This record gives sequence, structure tokens and C-alpha cells, in this order.
Amino acid sequence: MVQLKAGPLGEEALRPLPEHKFTFGLWTVGNRGKDPFGSEVRAGLDPNDSVRKLAELGAYGISLHDDDLVPFGSSAQERDAIVRRFRATLQESGLVVAMATTNLFAHPVFKDGAFTSNDKQVRRFAIAKVMRAIDLGAELGAKTYVFWGGREGVESLAAKKPADALNRFREAIDFLSEYVIDQGYGMRFALEPKPNEPRGDIFLPTVGHALAFINTLAHPDMVGLNPEVAHETMSGLSFYHGVAQTLWQGKLFHIDLNGQKIGRYDQDLRFGSEDLKDSFFLVKLLEDSGYDGPRHFDAHAYRTENAEGVWDFAAGCMKTYLILKEKAARFDVDPDIQEALAAASVGELAEPSVGAYSRSAALTLRDATVDADALAARGYYNERLDQLVMELIMGVR
Ligand code: GCO
Ligand code: MN
Ligand code: MN
Repeated sequence: MVQLKAGPLGEEALRPLPEHKFTFGLWTVGNRGKDPFGSEVRAGLDPNDSVRKLAELGAYGISLHDDDLVPFGSSAQERDAIVRRFRATLQESGLVVAMATTNLFAHPVFKDGAFTSNDKQVRRFAIAKVMRAIDLGAELGAKTYVFWGGREGVESLAAKKPADALNRFREAIDFLSEYVIDQGYGMRFALEPKPNEPRGDIFLPTVGHALAFINTLAHPDMVGLNPEVAHETMSGLSFYHGVAQTLWQGKLFHIDLNGQKIGRYDQDLRFGSEDLKDSFFLVKLLEDSGYDGPRHFDAHAYRTENAEGVWDFAAGCMKTYLILKEKAARFDVDPDIQEALAAASVGELAEPSVGAYSRSAALTLRDATVDADALAARGYYNERLDQLVMELIMGVR
């Protein structure tokens, strides 16, 4: 019967190392706790200090918006000085910039959208800002460039024709793809879907919408996804299935990990803190798939936290990931789980149903007699399987 495995998970396996590829947005640890109802509760962080602290905690790299490093409106000389200092800090700490992106949502100029603003001058300004931010990302070595269209949406449905907005979104991505090719940057783009917030409704709201949009682009091979736990969960969708299909289509270019309760505003909580079972299967999926990109945390510390709590938050994200990774490895060697998988015929789904088409095979299949009642009589033992997985996650196996 059930063999309980004793003892805590090995401390060594739970120590974050650069090879685990954990990355954090500068804006995540730098989050000051401002929300729609209250002001900042923490002091801002110097990006150079964040890099040093994350390196100490075992992270692999960081990601950034253009404005996280170089404040909006800085002069060329100011920019260069900031970038020079930041590059030196990266060099000293050994951290990389794994992803870069553009802030196309904070400044009031983007209140009606960036690539999809009704004002053509705003759209042109947005594309220019992205080109400068891509230059910055390239200078810092980023190989992935993320597009999160936070302001690309509407409250009033009358205010934008969706087909026009999608055409303008596509025009921007196509133009910027050409820019990256022309400059020889070798970057790939990752679109980040989100259903709403800050806009009432956002274009490309889910993984499925974004995957379909990519097929319409001029350079579809350059463009993949950056799905986020919180965003699919807000829509009530299974993030696990969204990521699985993204992988299946060869489009998982980056990932935003965090925690989220279903049906709420974008909470961006510590990874694994709300959705342990989903998080377990997500980590298992990433580890089994051979995905070798960053494990990027796009989350922030609770508003209750002071500066110290921010680092508890960051360490917690990485530790939870590593615990779930250990448990995923146990899943594969647990004899009871393996037996339950066999009883559920999990492996049989990998076998072709009918094989290649031939007329004779089709007619034989069509005309065969099947005892559906006999087939219906079997059980799939999913209760047993799921309980065993829960016991594994809860730590008694
Ligand atoms: C959000 C988004 C952002 C993006 C970030 C990078 O809902 O606020 O998740 O955090 O990921 O702007 O594009
Ligand atoms: Mn988010
Ligand atoms: Mn995100």
C-alpha cells in the first residue's frame, strides 16, 4: 500500500541558482504598493540595488520597461550615463537582461491606446517609443521583447471598430518586426494577452485570441506569447491548458508567473500562493516540456510589506517553484501514481486512434460492430489518481 516518504525536501535542491533561470521585472520588486485606493507604502528602489539583491538571492536575470531604467523624458546624455552604470552593475553581479518591453500605458498620452489609439499621432509616437526601447533592450542583451497592450482597448464599444484596431495592432507588430530584422538584433517578440484592466476590455484578451492573431502577421515565426497566470485566471480559464497549447504550437517564448484568485482584478500575488494544484501542474509542464526560457515572476509583494518583505516575496516565488519542481520529479517515480496513471489509461491517449487514412480502413471502421455498453462500463479511476496527486502536493508522499 501507500509508502509515505519521510523527511523534508533537500535544502540543496531548494536553493535558487542562475541555472534555474529565475528572472524578475525591475517593476516587480520595485513595486511601491500604490493601489487605486491608497498611495505608495514603500520607498522606490534604485535598479542597481535591485540587481545586486536579486543576484544575492540566486536569480538569473531581470526584465525591464524602458521607463523603469531611464525615466520618461530623460536627455540622451542622461540616458547614456544611466545605461553605462547599469551595464557595469550587471557585469559585476552576473545577472542578465532576459527580456525588455515598453511602457505604453503610464503616460496620459496613451489614455486612448498606443498602437490602437484613434489619434494617428499617438500611434506614431508609440511605435517610435518602442523602437527606442528595442534599441535599449538590444544594448542590454535582451533576446525577447514583450508586448503587453494594457491600454489597447475600450470602455465604450462605440469608440473603436475592433477590425480597425486589430489592423493597427498588426501594422505596428509587422513594422517593428522589420525594424528588428533591419537592425540585425535577432530578437523575438512575445505578445502578452490580458482580458481587462486597465481598460474595460482589452484587444487580444486571451492566449487563444493571441495565437490566432499571430497567424495573420507578416513574420509569424518571430512572434510568440508571454502568457501570465493572473491574466488567464481572471477570465476563468485554465492557465495550465493555455500554456500547454502555447507549447504545442511552439509559441512559448516567455512566461509571467504569479498567483491569482479567479474572477478578480489582476492581483499579481507571489507565485503559487493562491493556486497550488494549478501551479504544481504548470511547473511540471514547464519542466517536462524542455522549455528553456526564463521563469519570470511578474508579481509584487503585498501592500502590507516594508522593504524587507519585498525580498521575502522574491525568495518565496523561487522557493515555491523549486519545491513544486521536486514534487514533479517525485510524481514520475511514485509507484502508486504510476499505477493510477495506467488505470486511467493516460498513456493510451498518446496512441493514434485510427492511423493513416485508407478507404478500406475507413470502411472497416465504419461498419464494425462495437459494444458501446461494454465500453461504457469501465471506470477511469480519476478519483484515485487525483487524490494521490493531492497527497503528493500536501507533502505526505
Ligand atoms: C500587468 C502586466 C504587466 C506586463 C508588463 C510587461 O497586468 O500589469 O502583467 O506587468 O507584464 O508591463 O509587459
Ligand atoms: Mn499582470
Ligand atoms: Mn505580465
